[in-house]
Amino acid sequence: MVGDALTRPKDLLDFSAHDRQGVEALLTSAERLKRERYRGEDLKGKVLALLFEKPSLRTRTTLEVAMLRLGGHAVYLDQKQVGIGEREPVRDIAKNLERFVEGIAARVYRHETVEELARHARVPVINALSDRAHPLQALADLLTLKEAFGGWEGLEVAWVGDGNNVLNSLLEVAPLVGLRMRVATPRGYEPDPTLVEKAGALFTHNPKEAVLGAHALYTDVWTSMGQEAERERRLQDFHGFQVNGELLKLLRPEGIFLHCLPAHYGEETTEEAVHGPRSRVFDQAENRLHTAKAVLLRLLS
Ligand code: CP
Ligand code: NVA
Repeated sequence: MVGDALTRPKDLLDFSAHDRQGVEALLTSAERLKRERYRGEDLKGKVLALLFEKPSLRTRTTLEVAMLRLGGHAVYLDQKQVGIGEREPVRDIAKNLERFVEGIAARVYRHETVEELARHARVPVINALSDRAHPLQALADLLTLKEAFGGWEGLEVAWVGDGNNVLNSLLEVAPLVGLRMRVATPRGYEPDPTLVEKAGALFTHNPKEAVLGAHALYTDVWTSMGQEAERERRLQDFHGFQVNGELLKLLRPEGIFLHCLPAHYGEETTEEAVHGPRSRVFDQAENRLHTAKAVLLRLLS
């Protein structure tokens, strides 16, 4: 893959079409946008469609506010109205929306849905979370880590919990910036093994082994949106994987706690961890806004 100056992917579905320079440029842009509390008219007259099959606080709000602060506008389309794949096929939705708006951000159950949207829409498509990836979250996480430690090279980030969409995106972006992932999941909840291998990540079923001496400890819900029917079984299977004061003590002294939110308190984390001194969880949430602005400027300008 050649540098970002030459390659400018149309979409952000995951990081497979993005390279190190592209990701670093996005993060540099996000840092500047945050420093300046940037407001401008760069996207004046442009509209982003938010096509959401699932609920959201952070992703929807930050994309809407980012569009507003950049002079554009967002239109929220929920599944009840649009009926993705039910009232209308994905391809037809893409071929309509491209005529109305300058970009589409889609939150979907099946990753194939965002891929299909991107294939058929001539406007940029942003994955606002699928079952396979959550790239917008990973960008905010990288910014948060840089703010805490000054850079990414050699940082060790322990993931304790489900091998899910949020982890997949971290694993995908980690080798691009020199981040080292240490992953602990219960048996049967492992992430995509090719991503683990490509990231050169340490993998274990023992949370303590992953966390010992790491710079950051990251977790996410055990039951993701769409998996509610499996909740009881997951509660049993994830026993021993909760992030609490005891596990956080194993981090290096300056180690931080990350969570993409929403949190299921008493399950993957305690309230003390999210609201305690090591937590950077609300910086992460804020950084969703600055990184969303950077992505929108890159893809929609
Ligand atoms: N972290 C995150 O994506 O939050 P929402 O589901 O509220 O958008
Ligand atoms: N893994 C979670 C992330 C929510 C932001 C989910 O997919 O529901």
